[in-house]
Amino acid sequence: MERLQKVMAQAGVASRRKSEELILAGFVTVNGEVVKELGTKVSTSDVVEVKGVPLAKEEPVYYLFYKPRGVISAVTDDKKRPVVVDYFPQVKERIFPVGRLDYDTSGLLLLTNDGDFAQKLLHPSFEIEKTYVAKLKGVPTYKELRPLERGMRIDNYKLQPAKVNILSTDEEKGHAIVALTIHEGRNHQVKKMFEAVGFPVQKLKRELYGNLTLAGLRPGEYRRLNKKEVTSLLQLAKKKD
Ligand code: URA
Repeated sequence: MERLQKVMAQAGVASRRKSEELILAGFVTVNGEVVKELGTKVSTSDVVEVKGVPLAKEEPVYYLFYKPRGVISAVTDDKKRPVVVDYFPQVKERIFPVGRLDYDTSGLLLLTNDGDFAQKLLHPSFEIEKTYVAKLKGVPTYKELRPLERGMRIDNYKLQPAKVNILSTDEEKGHAIVALTIHEGRNHQVKKMFEAVGFPVQKLKRELYGNLTLAGLRPGEYRRLNKKEVTSLLQLAKKKD
Protein backbone atom coordinates (compact mmCIF):
# COMPACT_ATOMS: atom_id res chain seq x y z
CA MET A 1 0.00 0.00 0.00
CA GLU A 2 1.27 3.46 -0.92
CA ARG A 3 0.03 6.96 -0.27
CA LEU A 4 -2.22 8.21 -3.04
CA GLN A 5 -0.12 11.29 -3.84
CA LYS A 6 3.02 9.13 -4.13
CA VAL A 7 1.29 6.74 -6.53
CA MET A 8 0.12 9.68 -8.64
CA ALA A 9 3.59 11.23 -8.71
CA GLN A 10 5.13 7.91 -9.69
CA ALA A 11 2.63 7.53 -12.50
CA GLY A 12 3.91 10.81 -13.90
CA VAL A 13 0.70 12.76 -13.25
CA ALA A 14 2.46 15.64 -11.49
CA SER A 15 4.86 16.30 -8.65
CA ARG A 16 3.78 15.01 -5.27
CA ARG A 17 2.83 18.51 -4.16
CA LYS A 18 0.74 19.14 -7.29
CA SER A 19 -0.87 15.73 -6.82
CA GLU A 20 -1.87 16.76 -3.30
CA GLU A 21 -3.52 19.86 -4.71
CA LEU A 22 -5.46 17.72 -7.21
CA ILE A 23 -6.63 15.45 -4.37
CA LEU A 24 -7.72 18.35 -2.18
CA ALA A 25 -9.56 19.91 -5.12
CA GLY A 26 -11.62 16.72 -5.48
CA PHE A 27 -10.27 15.68 -8.88
CA VAL A 28 -9.13 12.23 -7.76
CA THR A 29 -11.23 9.10 -7.37
CA VAL A 30 -10.30 5.70 -5.97
CA ASN A 31 -12.55 2.88 -7.18
CA GLY A 32 -15.04 5.49 -8.33
CA GLU A 33 -15.22 7.44 -5.04
CA VAL A 34 -13.85 10.97 -4.70
CA VAL A 35 -11.01 10.96 -2.16
CA LYS A 36 -9.89 14.20 -0.53
CA GLU A 37 -7.82 12.68 2.30
CA LEU A 38 -4.11 13.15 1.63
CA GLY A 39 -3.01 10.15 3.69
CA THR A 40 -5.20 7.66 1.79
CA LYS A 41 -3.35 4.46 0.96
CA VAL A 42 -3.96 2.57 -2.23
CA SER A 43 -2.74 -0.73 -3.61
CA THR A 44 -2.02 -1.80 -7.16
CA SER A 45 -5.50 -3.35 -7.41
CA ASP A 46 -7.22 0.00 -6.71
CA VAL A 47 -8.39 2.00 -9.71
CA VAL A 48 -7.17 5.59 -9.38
CA GLU A 49 -8.52 8.21 -11.75
CA VAL A 50 -7.55 11.85 -12.09
CA LYS A 51 -10.26 13.97 -13.70
CA GLY A 52 -11.78 10.73 -14.94
CA VAL A 53 -8.57 9.46 -16.54
CA PRO A 54 -7.10 6.26 -15.06
CA LEU A 55 -3.45 6.41 -14.03
CA ALA A 56 -1.28 4.90 -16.69
CA LYS A 57 1.14 2.40 -15.23
CA GLU A 58 4.48 3.55 -16.58
CA GLU A 59 7.89 2.26 -15.67
CA PRO A 60 9.92 5.13 -14.24
CA VAL A 61 12.56 6.33 -16.72
CA TYR A 62 15.41 8.78 -16.26
CA TYR A 63 17.34 10.60 -18.99
CA LEU A 64 20.35 12.86 -19.06
CA PHE A 65 19.96 15.37 -21.89
CA TYR A 66 22.41 17.84 -23.40
CA LYS A 67 20.01 20.72 -23.94
CA PRO A 68 20.97 22.95 -26.84
CA ARG A 69 20.50 26.71 -26.71
CA GLY A 70 17.18 27.94 -28.14
CA VAL A 71 14.98 25.25 -26.58
CA ILE A 72 12.35 25.66 -23.85
CA SER A 73 12.62 23.43 -20.75
CA ALA A 74 9.02 22.31 -20.92
CA VAL A 75 6.72 19.74 -22.46
CA THR A 76 4.74 22.25 -24.54
CA ASP A 77 5.13 25.90 -25.46
CA ASP A 78 2.24 28.18 -26.34
CA LYS A 79 4.49 30.17 -28.66
CA LYS A 80 5.36 26.98 -30.54
CA ARG A 81 9.09 27.24 -29.83
CA PRO A 82 11.07 23.98 -29.68
CA VAL A 83 10.74 22.19 -26.33
CA VAL A 84 13.06 19.62 -24.75
CA VAL A 85 10.70 16.66 -25.25
CA ASP A 86 10.88 17.24 -29.04
CA TYR A 87 14.29 15.58 -28.78
CA PHE A 88 12.75 12.33 -27.45
CA PRO A 89 10.45 11.23 -30.28
CA GLN A 90 11.00 7.52 -29.53
CA VAL A 91 10.23 7.80 -25.83
CA LYS A 92 6.67 6.72 -25.09
CA GLU A 93 6.64 7.64 -21.40
CA ARG A 94 5.31 11.05 -20.38
CA ILE A 95 8.61 12.60 -19.45
CA PHE A 96 9.17 16.14 -18.25
CA PRO A 97 12.26 18.16 -17.32
CA VAL A 98 13.52 18.18 -13.73
CA GLY A 99 13.67 21.91 -13.14
CA ARG A 100 14.67 24.13 -16.01
CA LEU A 101 17.41 25.80 -17.92
CA ASP A 102 16.72 29.12 -19.62
CA TYR A 103 15.86 29.18 -23.33
CA ASP A 104 19.34 30.52 -24.14
CA THR A 105 21.21 28.26 -21.67
CA SER A 106 22.67 24.96 -22.84
CA GLY A 107 23.82 21.93 -20.88
CA LEU A 108 22.84 19.14 -18.59
CA LEU A 109 19.15 18.65 -17.95
CA LEU A 110 17.45 15.58 -16.49
CA LEU A 111 14.10 14.36 -17.74
CA THR A 112 11.89 11.75 -16.11
CA ASN A 113 8.30 10.59 -15.72
CA ASP A 114 8.87 10.10 -11.97
CA GLY A 115 7.31 13.11 -10.25
CA ASP A 116 8.50 11.99 -6.86
CA PHE A 117 12.13 11.78 -8.00
CA ALA A 118 11.87 15.25 -9.58
CA GLN A 119 10.42 16.73 -6.45
CA LYS A 120 13.16 15.24 -4.27
CA LEU A 121 15.88 16.64 -6.50
CA LEU A 122 14.30 20.07 -6.64
CA HIS A 123 13.37 20.42 -2.98
CA PRO A 124 14.94 23.71 -1.83
CA SER A 125 16.37 22.23 1.36
CA PHE A 126 18.46 19.64 -0.48
CA GLU A 127 19.08 20.78 -3.99
CA ILE A 128 21.96 19.06 -5.65
CA GLU A 129 25.21 20.81 -6.51
CA LYS A 130 25.35 22.12 -10.07
CA THR A 131 28.24 23.68 -11.93
CA TYR A 132 27.71 26.28 -14.62
CA VAL A 133 30.28 27.74 -16.98
CA ALA A 134 29.58 31.33 -17.94
CA LYS A 135 31.11 33.62 -20.51
CA LEU A 136 31.09 37.04 -18.89
CA LYS A 137 31.22 40.51 -20.40
CA GLY A 138 34.24 42.04 -18.70
CA VAL A 139 37.17 40.51 -16.89
CA PRO A 140 36.57 40.16 -13.14
CA THR A 141 39.12 39.57 -10.41
CA TYR A 142 38.48 37.05 -7.62
CA LYS A 143 37.99 40.02 -5.33
CA GLU A 144 35.18 41.36 -7.51
CA LEU A 145 33.50 37.95 -7.48
CA ARG A 146 33.84 37.49 -3.71
CA PRO A 147 30.20 38.49 -3.00
CA LEU A 148 29.17 35.32 -4.84
CA GLU A 149 31.34 33.22 -2.54
CA ARG A 150 30.01 34.91 0.57
CA GLY A 151 26.35 34.43 -0.24
CA MET A 152 24.62 37.42 -1.76
CA ARG A 153 21.12 38.83 -1.53
CA ILE A 154 19.09 38.69 -4.75
CA ASP A 155 15.39 39.54 -5.08
CA ASN A 156 15.28 39.83 -1.29
CA TYR A 157 16.56 36.30 -0.84
CA LYS A 158 19.88 35.42 0.81
CA LEU A 159 21.66 32.95 -1.45
CA GLN A 160 24.01 30.33 -0.12
CA PRO A 161 27.72 30.76 -0.76
CA ALA A 162 28.80 29.64 -4.23
CA LYS A 163 32.14 28.29 -5.46
CA VAL A 164 33.83 30.43 -8.10
CA ASN A 165 36.64 29.49 -10.42
CA ILE A 166 38.00 31.82 -13.13
CA LEU A 167 38.91 29.47 -15.97
CA SER A 168 40.27 31.95 -18.52
CA THR A 169 40.31 35.63 -19.34
CA ASP A 170 40.73 37.60 -22.54
CA GLU A 171 41.67 41.20 -21.75
CA GLU A 172 41.73 42.17 -25.42
CA LYS A 173 38.23 40.96 -26.21
CA GLY A 174 37.05 41.90 -22.73
CA HIS A 175 35.54 38.65 -21.52
CA ALA A 176 36.16 35.87 -19.08
CA ILE A 177 35.09 32.26 -18.67
CA VAL A 178 34.07 31.50 -15.08
CA ALA A 179 32.76 28.33 -13.42
CA LEU A 180 30.17 28.74 -10.70
CA THR A 181 28.93 25.96 -8.42
CA ILE A 182 25.63 26.41 -6.60
CA HIS A 183 23.02 24.12 -5.14
CA GLU A 184 19.97 26.28 -5.30
CA GLY A 185 17.95 26.72 -8.46
CA ARG A 186 16.21 30.05 -8.35
CA ASN A 187 14.96 31.73 -11.50
CA HIS A 188 17.86 33.04 -13.64
CA GLN A 189 20.04 32.69 -10.56
CA VAL A 190 23.44 32.50 -12.22
CA LYS A 191 22.73 35.41 -14.56
CA LYS A 192 21.46 37.52 -11.68
CA MET A 193 24.48 36.70 -9.50
CA PHE A 194 27.00 37.80 -12.12
CA GLU A 195 24.89 40.78 -13.15
CA ALA A 196 24.79 41.91 -9.51
CA VAL A 197 28.59 42.23 -9.43
CA GLY A 198 28.73 44.03 -12.80
CA PHE A 199 29.63 41.17 -15.16
CA PRO A 200 26.66 40.24 -17.35
CA VAL A 201 26.48 36.67 -18.66
CA GLN A 202 26.84 36.41 -22.43
CA LYS A 203 26.64 32.63 -22.64
CA LEU A 204 25.72 29.98 -20.08
CA LYS A 205 26.12 26.24 -19.94
CA ARG A 206 25.41 23.74 -17.15
CA GLU A 207 28.30 21.29 -17.08
CA LEU A 208 27.71 19.25 -13.93
CA TYR A 209 24.72 18.01 -11.96
CA GLY A 210 25.75 16.14 -8.82
CA ASN A 211 28.20 13.56 -10.12
CA LEU A 212 26.81 13.61 -13.65
CA THR A 213 28.61 15.15 -16.61
CA LEU A 214 27.85 15.67 -20.30
CA ALA A 215 30.66 13.29 -21.32
CA GLY A 216 29.99 11.56 -24.62
CA LEU A 217 27.00 13.71 -25.58
CA ARG A 218 26.63 16.48 -28.14
CA PRO A 219 23.94 19.17 -27.95
CA GLY A 220 20.54 17.59 -28.58
CA GLU A 221 21.67 14.08 -27.54
CA TYR A 222 20.61 12.11 -24.51
CA ARG A 223 21.27 8.88 -22.68
CA ARG A 224 19.42 6.89 -20.03
CA LEU A 225 20.64 7.06 -16.47
CA ASN A 226 21.44 3.69 -14.95
CA LYS A 227 20.08 2.49 -11.59
CA LYS A 228 23.28 3.37 -9.80
CA GLU A 229 23.20 6.95 -11.08
CA VAL A 230 19.56 7.36 -10.03
CA THR A 231 20.27 5.98 -6.55
CA SER A 232 23.31 8.15 -6.13
CA LEU A 233 21.35 11.31 -7.09
CA LEU A 234 18.72 10.45 -4.51
CA GLN A 235 21.44 9.92 -1.93
CA LEU A 236 23.02 13.28 -2.73
CA ALA A 237 19.59 14.88 -2.36
CA LYS A 238 19.09 13.17 1.01
CA LYS A 239 22.43 14.19 2.47
CA LYS A 240 21.40 17.78 3.04
CA ASP A 241 18.09 16.78 4.66
N1 URA B 1 20.85 30.24 -13.87
C1 URA B 1 20.48 31.01 -14.91
O1 URA B 1 20.58 32.24 -14.84
N2 URA B 1 19.99 30.42 -16.01
C2 URA B 1 19.85 29.07 -16.13
O2 URA B 1 19.40 28.59 -17.16
C3 URA B 1 20.25 28.27 -15.04
C4 URA B 1 20.73 28.89 -13.91
